[in-house]
Amino acid sequence: MEQDLILAGRVLSFAASPFDAGGVAAAVEDHEALAISAGKIAAVGSLAALTAARPEAPVIDHGDRLILPGFVDAHAHYPQTAIIASWGKRLIDWLNTYTFPEEMRFGEAGYAEEIAARYLDLTAACGTTTMASYCTIHPESVEALFTAAQARGQRVVAGKTCMDRNAPEGLRDTAQSAYDDSAALLHRWHGVDRISYAITPRFSPTSTPEQLEALGALWAEHPDCLMQTHLSEQLDEIEWMHQLFPDARDYLDSYETFGLLREGAVFGHAIHLQPREKDRLREVGASLVHCPTSNTFIGSGLFDMGGLMAAGHRIGLATDTGGGSSFSMLRTMAAAYEVAQLKGTALHASQLLWLATQGAATALHLEDKVGNLAAGMEADLVVLDLASTPAIAQRASRATDLWEAVFPTIMMGDDRAIAEVRIAGRKVV
Ligand code: GUN
Ligand code: ZN
Repeated sequence: MEQDLILAGRVLSFAASPFDAGGVAAAVEDHEALAISAGKIAAVGSLAALTAARPEAPVIDHGDRLILPGFVDAHAHYPQTAIIASWGKRLIDWLNTYTFPEEMRFGEAGYAEEIAARYLDLTAACGTTTMASYCTIHPESVEALFTAAQARGQRVVAGKTCMDRNAPEGLRDTAQSAYDDSAALLHRWHGVDRISYAITPRFSPTSTPEQLEALGALWAEHPDCLMQTHLSEQLDEIEWMHQLFPDARDYLDSYETFGLLREGAVFGHAIHLQPREKDRLREVGASLVHCPTSNTFIGSGLFDMGGLMAAGHRIGLATDTGGGSSFSMLRTMAAAYEVAQLKGTALHASQLLWLATQGAATALHLEDKVGNLAAGMEADLVVLDLASTPAIAQRASRATDLWEAVFPTIMMGDDRAIAEVRIAGRKVV
């Protein structure tokens, strides 16, 4: 059993969402220290109280650094690690030109293991401690990510990506094999240590109605799993979906018809939504995941954070690696700020931090485990240096409050701002 530990610094925790009516002051609490015991947060509070209760525990003093929940990336494609930042294409061409050839390689277990390790190293360096990742159609790609995450004690959600049409030979399964392989992986991994399985049809255009129906049936048999897919990312994609599903009222209907819409559904992008789609998504409590660096990089459009939050949607934040152009949730928060500005909403620093932690955790139905620093939560955390470069330091030095001090790091920070990362209490960076 690892020894208890106390971390002192500026510990931020969420009493509520800073998007809720009470505003920032009611939502965010500022503590002096937190105590870690057996991989969990034992307490947050004053340093004197925590040390008095644990006189034997060593204290690591982070001074005026910020101690936050580890970042949660609610939508990523770890197999796209090596093709991140590929030039010049929009969604469908980008998939065909860069993504599908790379994903083809993951039938080889050794390659999948190499990229899974590289991906977990790169994301940990950016302070990301939990992610929901797509894999490829190959069960080997799922085994590789789960095995690597398990060895690191890391909480991960992932699933075999299912595609049985409109993908090249060698990157297609069938309705039956998608069901069988997904079921076998789910039985082997779901709920093991910190691993969760998510049923993962890539998106309607690459699945036949038979495959979506089979995956809907699998989800009905395993209602505690998440189901993740893509929704209304680009206008061309929506038009293509309508050709492939002529009876669908809208994009969401191509999932709804096959039992793939309810609470626990996690939809990436959700940019070009019809009024009926917004109403249904909110009614059932499905999750929307905003992927801002991807949406600008692939030229998809502007997510309506202000409008969708005000309407009461469940929303998380994500990189969408490698359609997204960064592994960093700091860079992703900056992009979310910029996209919201273009839609007429200025997101507060507390709202950006919430989206990248508790918001993303809530989108993945993990909010009772990660995404906050409170007694009983898993001890995944990140320590931010708010003066990590000369440019950031000179701006932060003028700050008159915490939020003004942290905002330059959100907008300009990168992995140099990540002073320490802990997963289940264990220091990994
Ligand atoms: N839609 C279907 N597959 C993908 C993908 O891999 N990345 C993005 N950004 N959108 C998709
Ligand atoms: Zn995606």
